[in-house]
Amino acid sequence: MSIQEILDQIHREMLPRRDRGEVATYIPELASIDVSRFGLAVATADGQVYSAGDAGVPFSIQSISKVFTLSLALGKIGNSLWERVGREPSGNAFNSILQLEREFGIPRNPFINAGAIVVTDVILASSSPAEALAELINFIRYAADDANIYINDAVALSEKATGHRNFALAHFLRSFNNLTHEPDLTLGTYFHQCAIEMSCRQLALAGRFLINAPGMPRLISRDQVRRINALMITCGHYDASGDFAYKVGLPGKSGVGGGILVIVPGTAAVAVWSPGLTAQGNSLLGTEAVQSLAQQMDWSVF
Ligand code: DON
Repeated sequence: MSIQEILDQIHREMLPRRDRGEVATYIPELASIDVSRFGLAVATADGQVYSAGDAGVPFSIQSISKVFTLSLALGKIGNSLWERVGREPSGNAFNSILQLEREFGIPRNPFINAGAIVVTDVILASSSPAEALAELINFIRYAADDANIYINDAVALSEKATGHRNFALAHFLRSFNNLTHEPDLTLGTYFHQCAIEMSCRQLALAGRFLINAPGMPRLISRDQVRRINALMITCGHYDASGDFAYKVGLPGKSGVGGGILVIVPGTAAVAVWSPGLTAQGNSLLGTEAVQSLAQQMDWSVF
């Protein structure tokens, strides 16, 4: 079967499914998303884009934004980032505060919320939140070769109004001197980066800079691309990262909007969207879809 036939087949199989998990409700603006949405897109290193279902419909990328902010931060300050954030899976929920006290304010990795808040603090540096967000959006638009990518302010404000966990994490980080800006300022930026909306097609295209193949957008060094992929496979799905690596065998980053960005090194970038989540906050059918795609295409890093 061709890639397009496989995508169409996966889409057809997902359509009648009733066991879709629950949409995220802790961000009120996300609670009303239609759980039956499903999109899938693949951008290949030879310049093709394939898609199925709602692959053209923008959704909230949420934690997938952490891949782009990490890329920007590594580009800005290089390895000194690792003085402030670790590179180990946490084995805990994405918004857990447990290890932060025991480990003296150094978050386990850049993808759990605490780590991502530190990364956002880094990209803020001496810029204003508006400047940092403009730089981030420009990075993503360049990567996707598409200017039609925006932040949904209502989603950002909705999370700001209810994000007590993240405020707790940010204040905790600040108490350990691992946050250089006021929590309000860093979190305002963080909530807006999470509220970026992209379609599966745009996300797959934006992911091409992580493929490490000739002709792909070159936004960071080859070496940094490898390191980010390593972090995606070990930490990209929080306390379900081992399970994702076992089932899919590829680097991936999930978001509570129900999206997943998956990289097939040297070959392709894949984006899937199904808003229903597992208990760990990862897309339930999205994971199944990329597992099926990887198996049928014989895609794996192993
Ligand atoms: O900070 C939060 O809780 C959300 N803005 C992002 C969390 C998220 O996407 C976790 N991913 N599966």
